Amino acid sequence: MKITEALFAEHLVFHSMFDHIEAAAPRLKTLAEVKSLATLMEQLLKAHSDTEDELFIGPLEHCFEQIGQRDAFLEEHQEIDDSLRNIQGARRLKKARQLLLAAVAYSRKHFDKEERIVFPMAERVLNGKTLTALGQKWMEQRARAAAPVA
Ligand SMILES: [Fe+2]
Ligand SMILES: [Fe+2]
Repeated sequence: MKITEALFAEHLVFHSMFDHIEAAAPRLKTLAEVKSLATLMEQLLKAHSDTEDELFIGPLEHCFEQIGQRDAFLEEHQEIDDSLRNIQGARRLKKARQLLLAAVAYSRKHFDKEERIVFPMAERVLNGKTLTALGQKWMEQRARAAAPVA
């Protein structure tokens, strides 16, 4: 599997998670519920963003630089992570909910940009062998993360 296909498949899972969070947020009654959803989203997204940082930025660095997006790409991952972490400091349910929905909206925008610009750029610039080799690395990383701790 090509890395772009693997990451796109992960995006599909996130899109349904975002739909779920947006639908559930108005019904959440406690601060703890909002915070636990934020933690879940933070942890799942972190693994995805780390993979993109590790496997993508390196081979595509010159292209990101050409379109002036290198720093933006890395910063957006950091901003999403920070915004989700900030929710843990919220004292009021309404505020926490607002922050969570803002983080979801921002993540959606970031994902959209990757799907429209970054993934197609990777497909254009990297050859099939490289895309598949990166896909293999992704598979190994995910298998390691899922392996039970001895
Ligand atoms: Fe990303
Ligand atoms: Fe992504």
